[in-house]
Order: sequence, then structure tokens, then C-alpha cells
Amino acid sequence: MHIFYGKAALIDFLKSIKTNHSSIGFVPTMGALHQGHLSLMKQSIANNNTTVMSIFVNPTQFNNPDDLAKYPRTLEDDLKKISTLSPEIIVFAPTVDDVYEGKPSSQFFNFDGLENQMEGKFRPGHFNGVGTIVKRLFEIVQPTNAYFGEKDFQQLQIVKKMVEKTKLKVNVIGCPIYREANKLAMSSRNALLSPEEKQEASFIYKILIESKEKFKKQSAKMVTEWVQKEFDKNNTFTLEYYQIADEETLLPCIRKNKNKKYRAFIAVFVNNIRLIDTISLN
Ligand code: PAF
Repeated sequence: MHIFYGKAALIDFLKSIKTNHSSIGFVPTMGALHQGHLSLMKQSIANNNTTVMSIFVNPTQFNNPDDLAKYPRTLEDDLKKISTLSPEIIVFAPTVDDVYEGKPSSQFFNFDGLENQMEGKFRPGHFNGVGTIVKRLFEIVQPTNAYFGEKDFQQLQIVKKMVEKTKLKVNVIGCPIYREANKLAMSSRNALLSPEEKQEASFIYKILIESKEKFKKQSAKMVTEWVQKEFDKNNTFTLEYYQIADEETLLPCIRKNKNKKYRAFIAVFVNNIRLIDTISLN
């Protein structure tokens, strides 16, 4: 494993190993690695000559300072997990100063409205922060392929849009959600849950599956109202939003159209910890 804490040394190293035919796979993360991240790594290792993983808790994508302070930071453990995959992996774990050159601020992006739905509504500025860091990391690493988990489906669409608009030459690849045995979507934030909360969080997937079933016969509005009622009855979880949206535009489904693909998106609080999940509906 090769570890770089600054971009200059990483860029030099990547130049030294690059050939005309080599491909670089890139897995950007904020650390606190779980099986979901490792599955992205495995896909990258299988399909590229070189794999780079970044571990960087990006301050500009946090609209809530408490959330940023609480975010799990487990670099030593993360490096141990990475070392089990392949000895050749390149890890980029820069400092905020190195990435932002002393000025951590976001660039403003127009993502054609994708940024105004769901996470964008509830986390103002979040996607400008994500766009800023992912663009910077792509410019540093210059990957051929970049791998993102579908749990953050809105982020995946935003990154694809950023690449389309900036004309960066990178294939953005979405990978399936990895789930715990009780079907809770794997997330770095799960490390903040108590064992009881983690167990009870199977409720989120159960609601998603039941809502998928209901959407076959009912309107998006009816299903959304049912989901809210289920959460009103639950003492552990507070629903922030449940939205059925067009997979491509992320606009809410008002009237079903059989030619469109829909997805349910959910954000939930448990004891001030925010969890998101999503499921394809057709
Ligand atoms: O999904 C994440 O972990 C982050 O949003 C990302 C893509 C690494 C950017 O900081």
C-alpha cells in the first residue's frame, strides 16, 4: 500500500507509473470504511491497473458543524482494512489545507435542478461541497473510472452531471447498496449507532420494501402519507423525508408514467444521527 498525505507527491507518483494503456480506478470516501466501500474497491481492482482510494472528511459538504465534528475518523483502522485487499493500493489521505490551499470554500454549481430535491433541500450547500471536492479529487487523481455507492443515489446523479458539465474524462460508475444482515444500508454513520439502534434500524428497509409493494397499486401521494403514519407510530425514528421521484430528474412523482423509472428516497433521524436509504420501485 502506498499512502500519500499531500497532492504533490501523489501526482508525481501517478505520473511515474502511468503508461498509455493503464487505467486508474478511483474510490473517493470519507473513511470509516465498511464492506460497502471495500466492495467498490474490489470492483475497481478487478477492472483497472491501478486503484486509488481517497479518505478525506470534506468540511465544505457539511451544513451542520455538529455533524462534521461527530463524523467518525478511523484512519488507522481504515488502512488495516485496505491492506487486506491488495498491496498495490494507493491511499490519498490529505489534510484540509492541502486540498483547499488554506481556503475551504465551495464552488457554485448548476446541476440542472438535481440539487434542489431531497438532500439538497434539507442540507443547503451540501451538493456544492460535494461537487467541489469530487471535481478537485478528479483533477488530482485523473481517474479513468470512479466508483460511487447507490445509497447516495442523488450524489451519484450529481457527480454524473458535474462530469458532463465540466467535460472531465472519467466514467462514473454506480454500484449496488451493501446491507447489514438486518438490511440496514451500510454507512459510515452506522458506527455512531448503539447496538440496539442498529438492530431496530431494519425498520427503514422494511418501510421501503412495503412502500414498493404499495406503489404498484397506489399513487405516490398515498404511499408517502402511509410512510409518514408508520413513522408517527414509531418512537425511535423520526422521518425527515420520504419521496418517490423520477430516477433521472429526481423530480417528485405526481402522476405515474409507465415509461419512467421511479425510486423511493428516505432520510431518517435516530438520536440525532441521520441515515438515508433508497430503493428502485420498478
Ligand atoms: O460519499 C461520500 O463519502 C462523499 O460525499 C464523497 C463522495 C467522498 C465526497 O466527499
